[in-house]
Amino acid sequence: MAVSEMFGYAKWWFKSVFGSKAPLVNTLIIHYGCNLRCRHCSIHKNTENIAGKTKLSYDEIVSDLNLQYKNGARIAYFEGGETTMWSDGEKDLGDIIKAAKDAGYTNVGYTTNGTGRIFTGSDIISVSLDGPKEVHDLIRGEGVYEKLMDNISKTDFTGAIYANMVIQKDNLGCIKETAELVRNNDKLTGIIFNFITPPPYELALSRSEKGEAISVIRELKKKGYPILNSKKGLELLAEEDWSQKCPYHVTVFVIPDGSHHNGCPMHDTPSCERCGFAAVREYYLIKRGNPFTITEMSSIFAMSKK
Ligand SMILES: C[S@@+](CC[C@H](N)C(=O)[O-])C[C@H]1O[C@@H](n2cnc3c(N)ncnc32)[C@H](O)[C@@H]1O
Ligand code: SF4
Repeated sequence: MAVSEMFGYAKWWFKSVFGSKAPLVNTLIIHYGCNLRCRHCSIHKNTENIAGKTKLSYDEIVSDLNLQYKNGARIAYFEGGETTMWSDGEKDLGDIIKAAKDAGYTNVGYTTNGTGRIFTGSDIISVSLDGPKEVHDLIRGEGVYEKLMDNISKTDFTGAIYANMVIQKDNLGCIKETAELVRNNDKLTGIIFNFITPPPYELALSRSEKGEAISVIRELKKKGYPILNSKKGLELLAEEDWSQKCPYHVTVFVIPDGSHHNGCPMHDTPSCERCGFAAVREYYLIKRGNPFTITEMSSIFAMSKK
């Protein structure tokens, strides 16, 4: 990680300790469109019949990138829908990644299901991996695993590719197998584990299932598997209700209708009381100045510039 980048994060943290509410991460949900209908996906379940605007334009994205950079954000993350399917006229995901770099963001990333083009201009790519072939395809659809693996094996992207696993009823039994897959795949830098945030409620895990999953992950981490959740972050994954603790200001969001949110757009919904997002725990720890999490997270960002 460049010294200036490190200095930027340190400055943000220092100011935040003294009460600043400047954001660190700008998350842009660029559209809701998607080629898949994953069983656990809250986005497609909540937005399938939405009446309003379902996509940000190129101009809206550039204007938001500049605005939040001015407000202090230094990490830009594109989310969807399926991010690689976003377009506006001639512009595609590659153009908005470039716009984020041009705006000055030191770390730019996007999440993808990996079935489409792998855009290479970002620092980080997060690919969804919900289990070995049979389980991934059960959750995401026939043939999705092969396409993902084929696409990442062929890409000449030189940054870090992380796997993002959402643990839910369908894949609770294959945590170790999935970590093993990541460890044996030289294109994947590591894996981050999340729990499903309902809806859908029928796939949500009980507290005891979460506890068992965390024990398995902690053991794997101890054995040196490339698990990106910090140790303390893993412990906090067991805590369900983040409605009072969520470090809202760390991430700002813009969503396809153009509205801006200081913190998670799910704030104040029932989902908040069963939050399974790993990033929420890591942001919380970083904000509180947990030295271990800060060191672990810094090394993740450093790895992204390999
Ligand atoms: C909404 S998707 C958008 C990016 C892309 N379409 C993909 O699947 O990677 C971003 C991440 O959110 C996860 N996700 C979807 N629904 C979720 C839920 N109910 N709880 C937790 N994570 C969820 C997905 O598995 C994926 O890793
Ligand atoms: S690919 Fe991503 S956005 Fe599409 S349905 Fe699956 S999780 Fe949701």
